[in-house]
Amino acid sequence: MKIMVIQGPNLNMLGLREQNIYGPMKLEQIHEQMRGFAQQNGVEIEFFQSNLEGELVDKIQECLGDADGIIINPAAYTHTSIAIRDAIAAVSLPAIEVHISNVYAREEFRKKSLVAPVCAGQIAGFGPFSYHLAMVAMLQILNEIKAMKDMQQQQQGQQQA
Ligand code: DQA
Repeated sequence: MKIMVIQGPNLNMLGLREQNIYGPMKLEQIHEQMRGFAQQNGVEIEFFQSNLEGELVDKIQECLGDADGIIINPAAYTHTSIAIRDAIAAVSLPAIEVHISNVYAREEFRKKSLVAPVCAGQIAGFGPFSYHLAMVAMLQILNEIKAMKDMQQQQQGQQQA
């Protein structure tokens, strides 16, 4: 099983940008923690960050046939990008939207997500721990999908016998 973690614009600046909102942790440190958790749970994980909307769309499309689930922090594109929303809908993989800050406690324009309706769920406001919670949720979703597939295969086998 493989999880793709996609990070949007300015998240490469974590640790430097608006520390009062996003805290002192760098993106690489967050990824290190996620890598450890993935290893403990026997899942593959890959990370991608871009400041460009089209590159994020390309990466989501590449997930088809390559990843089983997507954890995405679309950052500012959360609030503007129909292209990212459509790409997630197109690949039809389970996706979880993540935010470090509580976007509902901030400016009005951050309260609207174009991406959330095509995701399994959204996790926001727990600082870098939001990513850990997203990993836990994604493992649960992937295990449920696997259990469902196993059951279907078993039923097909019984019908053929
Ligand atoms: C963010 C919230 C967005 O509104 C903002 O544009 C970001 C980061 C977060 O993780 O809290 O860049 O996605």
